[in-house]
Amino acid sequence: MRVLGIESSCDETAAAIVEDGRAVLSNAVASQVEEHKLYGGVVPEIASRRHCEAICGVVRQALDDAGTDLDGIDTVAVTSAPGLIGALLVGVNFAKGLALSAGKPLVPVHHLRAHIAANYLTFPELEPPFLCLVVSGGHTHIVQVESYTQLRVLGRTRDDAAGEAFDKAARAMGIPYPGGVELDKIAETGNDKACRLPRPSVDGAPYDFSFSGLKTNVINLIHNASQRGETLSVPDLAASYRKAVVDCLTRGFLAAAKDTGAKKLAIAGGVSANLLLRRTLEHECARLGLSFYCPELRYCGDNGAMVASQGFYEFQAGNTAGPELNARPEMPVELSFSCEPAAAFKRNR
Ligand code: KG4
Ligand code: ZN
Repeated sequence: MRVLGIESSCDETAAAIVEDGRAVLSNAVASQVEEHKLYGGVVPEIASRRHCEAICGVVRQALDDAGTDLDGIDTVAVTSAPGLIGALLVGVNFAKGLALSAGKPLVPVHHLRAHIAANYLTFPELEPPFLCLVVSGGHTHIVQVESYTQLRVLGRTRDDAAGEAFDKAARAMGIPYPGGVELDKIAETGNDKACRLPRPSVDGAPYDFSFSGLKTNVINLIHNASQRGETLSVPDLAASYRKAVVDCLTRGFLAAAKDTGAKKLAIAGGVSANLLLRRTLEHECARLGLSFYCPELRYCGDNGAMVASQGFYEFQAGNTAGPELNARPEMPVELSFSCEPAAAFKRNR
């Protein structure tokens, strides 16, 4: 089955065609990052407008690159939650129109489930159950993936998401938005023992995270140094901060793995591109005799292929929608979209 996956939840307009949830036939992405950089973060209204302008071309490119047209597509999958509401609405309404006009089933996809599915694209042999650390710009969750469509959150951040924590600290260090990637690169050249930073934990909740204190700590270090007329080494600061965030993530994730007896560990979301996080977990999993999975770098950030992959499994589970589908800015990852008959759109043609 060929699924067209559409993604527009934040600042990437993306579309891809994936066969049977695993084989990527095309993957087109139009990024708005350069424009949002001017403002130091995503401006929701600009994001929605750029999605409107880009979506036709991106979907057309995904079809062309796969050497097909709509007749060669079996299902249209779209990220419908969570994310920026105005941005999500562009993808959802476009997908609805496309499914309706072409008489194809419409499959709503949860953005975090799609991030997890990025692992299926990279590892054809990977099947649930496994434990996944989902680390993106807006979310940080430890998720027990019981089946493709049954998920349970074991732990979460109590304040900032990991990506947000990286971006905000990077900004304080003078690194432009989205700072996470650049901070990661700069950290490779620094000394991670140069600055003493805490490893905050949440009392009585070993799988939960808290990053806002850590972020404030690094911001205070920078302010205090500038008040004393000193300059801190950005590579050392970046390396020390990255190490502290990765230590916290690793501690919680490995505790959950130990307590649940998980044998397969995966990571997903934009922050799963972090070089130190990948290296650390690879090393720890090898030491503990566990299998470790992380998506190829091109599937870590937002893309349509991960949406198409998860869309395939949602379709198999009967999680399709009709014209009433709406976008939702928030939605628990455990929740499946209501089961509407796949034939609903065909009847409405
Ligand atoms: O998953 P994603 O592309 O979008 C959301 O769903 O939020 O994640 C974006 C986040 C941003 O905060 C970005 O700075 C962060 O992922 N990120 C990284 C790296 N690459 C992207 N953070 C740390 N290290 C990286 N290499
Ligand atoms: Zn994302």
